Amino acid sequence: MKIIRTINYDEMSKQAGGIILEKMKSNPKITLGLATGSTPLGVYQYLIDDHKTNNTSYKEIRTFNLDEYVAIKKEDPNSYHTFMQSKFFNYIDINLANSYIPDGNASNYELECLRYENLIKETGGIDLQLLGLGPNGHIGFNEPGTSFESRTHIVKLSQDTRIANSRFFPSLSDVPTRAITMGIATILESREILLLASGYAKAEVLARLINGGIDSIFPASSLKLHGNVTVIADDDAFKLM
Ligand code: GLP
Repeated sequence: MKIIRTINYDEMSKQAGGIILEKMKSNPKITLGLATGSTPLGVYQYLIDDHKTNNTSYKEIRTFNLDEYVAIKKEDPNSYHTFMQSKFFNYIDINLANSYIPDGNASNYELECLRYENLIKETGGIDLQLLGLGPNGHIGFNEPGTSFESRTHIVKLSQDTRIANSRFFPSLSDVPTRAITMGIATILESREILLLASGYAKAEVLARLINGGIDSIFPASSLKLHGNVTVIADDDAFKLM
């Protein structure tokens, strides 16, 4: 893993945004894997600002989001569909027909998982996947114990994750109990991965990722099996190294 340490969140976002823009320049038809959560917000803002200033076009790119809650309507303020629209897609010239997010309201979840997984394959796979890091080491919504062979699947969210994400919901009981997520094998098939971590709250998991072994109890450690991962993290996230 290549590791880039930055002085703060803004610098982390700028570095990651810069890498994405560089890749888009060399491949205007790039397929990006996108993430939600607080961590990538600065990257999306950086890309929006660049789009305003330099007119960088997203018309030809394709995107796949990592995950979505189950049994939340697309229009729900807490759906990842809404998140992507309101934090990124509404401000760039992306063709929404080429932006995919798992359907958390599918009538048949097994079929939806297969459809999503096949769509990624049929369209040529993901060139660059952006990842955040869950406080328990999850990537996407792949919770501790998830097989490294997993493909897009339905997960029962751990209590840790529901508590961590309850900050966006009126109360803990409103946080969905399940989600649909790309599997670890799906993520590892991306040609390149950019993992971001910011703040002291991620210091323990970042130290475990960098110094620890490879174990399915710590999903992010699967990234050590991939040959092209860059970790960009700020000083606060490095506090326990
Ligand atoms: C959610 C998402 C993950 C994300 C994680 C960390 O659980 N499913 O993809 O990485 O949150 O979120 P944050 O960036 O807000 O710390």
